Amino acid sequence: MSDLSSRLAPIDGFRLAAIRHTGRRDAKVHSRLRPLPQHTSSDRRRCVYCADVGAQLHYQREVLYERSAMSTQILALVGSLRSASDNLHLAEAAVKLAPSGVSVEIFHGLADVPLYNEDIDQPRSVAAADRLRAEVQSADALLLVTPEYNGTMSAALKNAIDWISRPFGAGVISEKPVAVIGTSHGQYGGVWAHDDGRKAARIAGAHVLDDLKLSVAAAHIRFASVHPVDDEEIAETMPEILTSLAAAAVSRRC
Ligand SMILES: Cc1cc2nc3c(=O)[nH]c(=O)nc-3n(C[C@H](O)[C@H](O)[C@H](O)COP(=O)(O)O)c2cc1C
Repeated sequence: MSDLSSRLAPIDGFRLAAIRHTGRRDAKVHSRLRPLPQHTSSDRRRCVYCADVGAQLHYQREVLYERSAMSTQILALVGSLRSASDNLHLAEAAVKLAPSGVSVEIFHGLADVPLYNEDIDQPRSVAAADRLRAEVQSADALLLVTPEYNGTMSAALKNAIDWISRPFGAGVISEKPVAVIGTSHGQYGGVWAHDDGRKAARIAGAHVLDDLKLSVAAAHIRFASVHPVDDEEIAETMPEILTSLAAAAVSRRC
């Protein structure tokens, strides 16, 4: 793309897709901005940003914007450290079932985050915790995915919440939209763990979406031979959860 791109004002949530020579002079350049599939009329109105370009260039080129492929980023923290974890597979289903305009990434590295200890919580002293905080900070929302261990969330997830809750009142989880889901062997699918996850995240300062629930029972039977992404209920529920979580993130941005 030409250096013209550096002269165009950025549009939040959009990326510059192309600058094309039209070979024509046409004062109605905006009417020739090609709407891409996700464009709405209000999106198109925003393309008046290209009016910043000098008139000569303006008339000879068309500037195409498209919605960023990853306009709303959800970071999944998985409470089980097991390599064949059903909760990890559930998070993978979230990655694959994310609706258009939403991207889910799984944080790999909770096993490296030491138990929270105020003595070691100094700037740049714990690399794994710094990485966790940085990824949480840059995410628009969090999806916490945990099994139930002895009637509550896993220690790995609780530890992560503790790290991202500090410094008190200003941790990177503050105001972050959060949904808590998961799967366990028990008949209730880990509802106590998920309720506790919501409680801890709320006390840590997150904006917890209490109505977003998915606690899948009998994980060892249900997912013995079926990956969660191929499970009918999950294929239906997961996109709804992600859509609501992303909507909460967008409305907090506005
Ligand atoms: C220490 C421990 C405690 C557990 N406690 C519970 C429990 O309270 N309720 C339950 O439904 N399952 C319990 N389980 C079984 C987990 O639900 C099961 O191991 C779960 O599938 C683990 O998730 P994963 O496949 O993502 O590793 C426990 C498992 C462990 C290892």
